[in-house]
Amino acid sequence: MTPSKTATAAQAAMWNQRYCAEEYAYGEAPNAYFEAQLKKLKPGKILLPAEGEGRNAVFAAKSGWTVSAFDISTEGQKKAARLAREQGVTMDYRVGGLDTLRYQEEEFDAVALIYAHFSPELKSEYHGAFRKYLKKGGTVILELFGKNHLKYNRVDPEVGGPKDIDMLCSADEIGTYYSGFEVAELEEKVIRLSEGPCHNGIGSVVRFTGRK
Ligand SMILES: C[S@@+](CC[C@H](N)C(=O)[O-])C[C@H]1O[C@@H](n2cnc3c(N)ncnc32)[C@H](O)[C@@H]1O
Repeated sequence: MTPSKTATAAQAAMWNQRYCAEEYAYGEAPNAYFEAQLKKLKPGKILLPAEGEGRNAVFAAKSGWTVSAFDISTEGQKKAARLAREQGVTMDYRVGGLDTLRYQEEEFDAVALIYAHFSPELKSEYHGAFRKYLKKGGTVILELFGKNHLKYNRVDPEVGGPKDIDMLCSADEIGTYYSGFEVAELEEKVIRLSEGPCHNGIGSVVRFTGRK
């Protein structure tokens, strides 16, 4: 996998700047959809790509999961380490992208993608890798801004999310990446977000829970 190093460095700098603030950009509580879906599963090994400041990873660790996480942001890793320390849990959180990081095939019982948006060049490679990293019978939990989100973001930028439509995913696109999975839920729907200072307002999200 050879993502543009320049683009990745620029993106990492943007996220590092956001995460330098004292406050957690998306709060310290887990994403509500992730929390509800994770509670239905028996704890095992979970991977959280693009995990930012660690709110979901810390919740999973507190719920008895063995947690691996990664993100391109060093400041995200620092905030996640702080949250984990404060809440008395540990995790394996690496800094980088899948151009440098490697996980084992069929290593994880769950992979959770919470607002993990990737460039068009990386999308299919990343999702292809995530489906390989899942064990047979493993679960993907995903909540991302959908293709319909741009019009909500234009009206109210406080809701957050990428402004480039190519970074967003439709439900059909997610269905294609995870073809062959047993689908418990796959839809794009309008919800009210209230997650820290950076996700507030009405937005359109794709939710997917599927079993390999
Ligand atoms: C909106 S934040 C979501 C953070 C976290 N999942 C959450 O819900 O709180 C998106 C994250 O994606 C990360 N990211 C962007 N491109 C990435 C890439 N190519 N590989 C890994 N992480 C990436 C950013 O650094 C940022 O932390």
